[in-house]
Amino acid sequence: MSTIEGLQNIWLARAGAVLVAALALPPAASAQDVTYAGDVAHVLQENCVRCHHPGTAAPMALLTYEEVRRWGSRIKTAVENRMMPPGWYIDRTVGIQDFKNDPSLSDQEIETIVAWVDSGMPAGDPSQLPEPVEWKGDHEYWALEDEQGWGPPDLIITSPPFTVPANSGDQWWEPDAALADVVNTQLTEGRWIRAVETRPADSESGYVFHHANTTLRRETADGRRSGGGLSSAAVGKRTDIYPEDAGKLILPGDDIHFSMHLFPIGREVVDAQIQIGVWLYPEGEDPKYTTNDEILFNSGESRDLGLPRYTDLLIPPHGYQMLRGNFVLEQNARVHSIRGHMHLRGGYQMMEAIYPDGRREVINKIDWNHLWHTTHIYEDDAQPLLPKGTVIIATSLLDNTADNPSNPDPDQWVVYGRRSVSEMAHIRFGITWIPDEDFERMVAEREQRRTRPAADGS
Ligand code: HEC
Repeated sequence: MSTIEGLQNIWLARAGAVLVAALALPPAASAQDVTYAGDVAHVLQENCVRCHHPGTAAPMALLTYEEVRRWGSRIKTAVENRMMPPGWYIDRTVGIQDFKNDPSLSDQEIETIVAWVDSGMPAGDPSQLPEPVEWKGDHEYWALEDEQGWGPPDLIITSPPFTVPANSGDQWWEPDAALADVVNTQLTEGRWIRAVETRPADSESGYVFHHANTTLRRETADGRRSGGGLSSAAVGKRTDIYPEDAGKLILPGDDIHFSMHLFPIGREVVDAQIQIGVWLYPEGEDPKYTTNDEILFNSGESRDLGLPRYTDLLIPPHGYQMLRGNFVLEQNARVHSIRGHMHLRGGYQMMEAIYPDGRREVINKIDWNHLWHTTHIYEDDAQPLLPKGTVIIATSLLDNTADNPSNPDPDQWVVYGRRSVSEMAHIRFGITWIPDEDFERMVAEREQRRTRPAADGS
C-alpha cells in the first residue's frame, strides 16, 4: 500500500512539474521532460508488469528499458486505444463509472506514455527507476494474502485432477465427485465465508486453465439441493470478495463442486488441478446478510412469465440478433458487481432498471471481449440500490458480421451452446437481498452522503 501511494505522490509531484513547464515553455520542451526512468517505468510497473514478465500469458516482458523501447510504438497504440491493461470493457459514456477494480490508466498516464514515445523514448536518469518487484507465478501466491494483507486462507480446497490432451477442442471438467471430505475435516461447525480466491495448483495447470466455477452443495431436509455459487474465476479474475456485511454460510457436510473450462496447449498436461482458498469471517462475527452473490439474468428470458426462451438463439450469417430478458425484483436488491458472458459473436450487453416510479436508467453497458471475463465491482456508494418492484432489462446484442474482429466465420449460422463457436448471452449481478427497513435506511444514508460533503472536506 505504502509503495503504491508513494509512487502516486511521485507521479503527482512530477505531473505538477510538467504542467508548470508546459505553461512556461513551448510544448516540445515539456514532452522532453518525460523519460523512461523518471516516468514511464513507474506507470508500467504499476499497471503492466504484473502480466508482462517472463512465464505469464502475455507475449513479452516489459521489465527493462530495452524491452520497452523495442515495443514502444505498439505500446503507444495499445494504451491510446485503451486495449491495455486489458479486461475492462465498461462503456465510459453511459451508466455507473465508479468501480473498485478498474485497472484502466488515467488520462495523464496515457499522455505520459504517448509523449514519451513521440519524443524518441529517452532513457533518463537510472537513479529515478522504481525499486524492482519480484513477481510470482499465478500458482505461487494468493492475491488476498500477498496484495491485500489478509493472511493465508482458512481453508484450501484442491479440485480432482484432470488430464488435458495435447490437441483437441475446449475441455469441460465437471467431476461427479464433489469434495465433502476436505470441508468435513477442516470444519467442525457452520462458518461464514467472506471471500474465495481461485488459482491453478501448479504452473502447468495454469497454462490450460480458462475458467472455473465452484458451487456449494447441501442436501436439505426434503432431499433438495441448495447452496449456490461460491466463486467464479477466469483468466484475469481470481477473487470473489463478498460485501463487508454479507457472506455465505458453509456447514460441515457441505459439498464443493467444481466446473472447469480448459484449453489444450499442444502438449499433454497430466493431472491439471485448481485450488480455491476460502477466507472466513472470524468465529462469532456473523455477517448481517446472506449474499446470493451472482444471480444470472438471461437475455431472452422473462422469468416472471415462466417462459425461458433463452436458448432460442439463432444468428444469421452476416447478421445480428438482439436478446432481451425482463425480470421483476420481488425483494429489495443491493447490487455489488456486474459481469457479462457471451462468446465470439458477443457485441455488447446492457443492464437497465425501470424503477417502480417509472424512471428508466442504464446501469451499465459492457462492450464485449470474449478473452476477458471481468467481474466489475462497484464502489460502495455506487452500488445500485433497486427497490422491490424494479424491472431489470438484460439486453445482449450478438454480432455475426465481418465487422466483429473476434468473429471466426461470418458465413456460419450460430446457435446456442457452450463451445466458443456457439453462443450464450447472460449477465450476472452480485446481489444481496435487503429487508425493507434496512433498505430505506441505506437509501437515506446514501442520499445524505451524496448531498452533504464530508465535514473534513475530503
Ligand atoms: C492482465 C494482464 C495484462 C496487463 C495488466 C497488461 N497486459 Fe498487455 N497483454 C496481455 C496479454 C495476455 C497480451 C496478448 C494478448 C492480447 O493482445 O490481448 C498482451 C499484449 C500486449 C501488447 C501487444 C499488443 C499487440 O500489438 O499485439 C502490448 C503492446 C501490451 N500488451 C502492452 C501493455 C501495456 C503498456 C500495459 C500496461 C499499461 C499492459 N500491456 C498491461 C496481458 C496484460
